Amino acid sequence: MHFMLTKFVDALPLPSVIQPVGHRNGIPYYEVTMKQVKQQLHRDLPPTTVWGYNGTYPGPTFETRRDHPIMVKWINELPFEHLLPVDRTIEGAEPNQPSVRTVVHLHGGRVRPENDGFPEAWFTRNFEKKGPKFLHEVYYYPNCQRSAPLWYHDHALGVTRLNVYAGLAGLYFIRDSQEESLNLPSGKFEIPLVIQDRSFYPNGELFYPSQPDPVPSPTPQVPFFPNPSIVPEFFGDTILVNGKVWPFLEVEPRKYRFRIYNGSNARFYNIRLSSGQPFIQIGSEGGLFDHPVVMEEIFLAPAERADVIVDFSQHKGERIIMTNSANSPFPGGTPPTPDTAQIMEFRVKKHLSHQDKSVIPTTLSCLERLNPDEAAVTRTNTLDESVDEFGRLLLLLNNMSWSDLPITETPKNGTIEIWQLFNRTNDTHPIHLHLVQFQIIDRASFTGDPLDPDNPKNPLIIGPAIPPEENEKGWKDTVRANPGEVTRIIARFGPFTGIYPWHCHILEHEDHDMMRPYEVLQNHDFDPCIPIPDVCPEDSFIQCCHEDHEHCGCIGGHDHDESSSHDESSSHH
Ligand code: C2O
Ligand code: CU
Repeated sequence: MHFMLTKFVDALPLPSVIQPVGHRNGIPYYEVTMKQVKQQLHRDLPPTTVWGYNGTYPGPTFETRRDHPIMVKWINELPFEHLLPVDRTIEGAEPNQPSVRTVVHLHGGRVRPENDGFPEAWFTRNFEKKGPKFLHEVYYYPNCQRSAPLWYHDHALGVTRLNVYAGLAGLYFIRDSQEESLNLPSGKFEIPLVIQDRSFYPNGELFYPSQPDPVPSPTPQVPFFPNPSIVPEFFGDTILVNGKVWPFLEVEPRKYRFRIYNGSNARFYNIRLSSGQPFIQIGSEGGLFDHPVVMEEIFLAPAERADVIVDFSQHKGERIIMTNSANSPFPGGTPPTPDTAQIMEFRVKKHLSHQDKSVIPTTLSCLERLNPDEAAVTRTNTLDESVDEFGRLLLLLNNMSWSDLPITETPKNGTIEIWQLFNRTNDTHPIHLHLVQFQIIDRASFTGDPLDPDNPKNPLIIGPAIPPEENEKGWKDTVRANPGEVTRIIARFGPFTGIYPWHCHILEHEDHDMMRPYEVLQNHDFDPCIPIPDVCPEDSFIQCCHEDHEHCGCIGGHDHDESSSHDESSSHH
């Protein structure tokens, strides 16, 4: 908070790769414990209290393979009191709820609802208290989807913004032989970059506001303003990558593959390299594109990812800064300060350790184009602004709160749907659907009322369709819905049935209350074990069709004996 930390004095940390503690039914079994620890986030900052999976922020990285399932027991050993101000007026965080509740979501993962990290499937320290939707302690991840940069993070109802800000996020890669056959830069030349913003007290502790600044003055309607109170969105004044403030990375003069994540609560980044060189983007949230695209700048809203290749071979000895120019809030907010306009520094060495034999292939992967003509349903969804009982901005989807019934979005398993996202607010919202990866059809400006399109006083008028950006044409799980625009996305829902969230990934919006459940309904005309024509093998549902509960033995909450079923080779304890 208004004190200066020197930039580019700490080396970029790389999260460690987690190893299983054993096997259950032949499936690698992991344990991850959430802990409160002190971690040095900058050379000149005293160690900061953070919450880390296995005691590190960000958490350890999962390296998994397509079609090789894993199991994870997520354990909460956090303190009983929250590190950050909990607003008790937010749904799910009422005064009778424990302040520290956790549940882990694998973002981008094709997983059954009972392993998805439902916001009310939370649990407290040692599973002492459990949310109403809690089912079992061990989660099963089938990895039956193409290689992709997923991540895991907390998703507990009403405190997600605080839990993630405290540090509960980590990376999860699915890999496969198709990707490996491409000879992309790999090993120490493939580097994840998780970009987040934070603010600090001079004593090193995390700052997160307990009320908006300024606090609204009392009115006859609202004589009392909550303290703590949620804020409309929070932007830190300091940028971290992989848990270090403004780090540097020494690179060789060669090609690198960077897996860039926007892991921030609310900040958007428009990323460039000060050398003026472009990024060669090869993938997005759901995995590889069909062919690489050249991007002068990369725009990432919270939860969006970019898989890029950067070639430093023409920049020997240079220092290159990764910069940011996105307004916050986006688009109508203020430009970044000279500080938040910088993300990290690359220091290009003069010499190669050995020749760079990696390539940028012209063809990357099989990419099916979902056909809008095959959509069974086209939905009109709205992004809305409202006001809560304290006069605070309340953001909603379809003008409904998380727990309002009925569930209105109910795709049938195996069917294709178009979701039109009419943004009637003033901000861009990154909309994320659980379970599926989708494609962007187009965007268009609109005026009028999408819910009453023929209203003579306010007819719906939709402008010309704008195709997605070149780097938005692959599989996405998070899409920017811009104000005054309808963003049209298309997805094949399935292969699992049940209730999943969809929400804005600005975490302050998600908590208040821009999140809705949707339900994939059973479809007796659809058998996930019968291949769908023209689906690329790596996206096929049939690779998930035998992923039933018997394999994991993790349904029903009676898995208290899992430690005794570790195999002999277990390295645990
Ligand atoms: Cu990354 Cu439902 O979230
Ligand atoms: Cu939002």
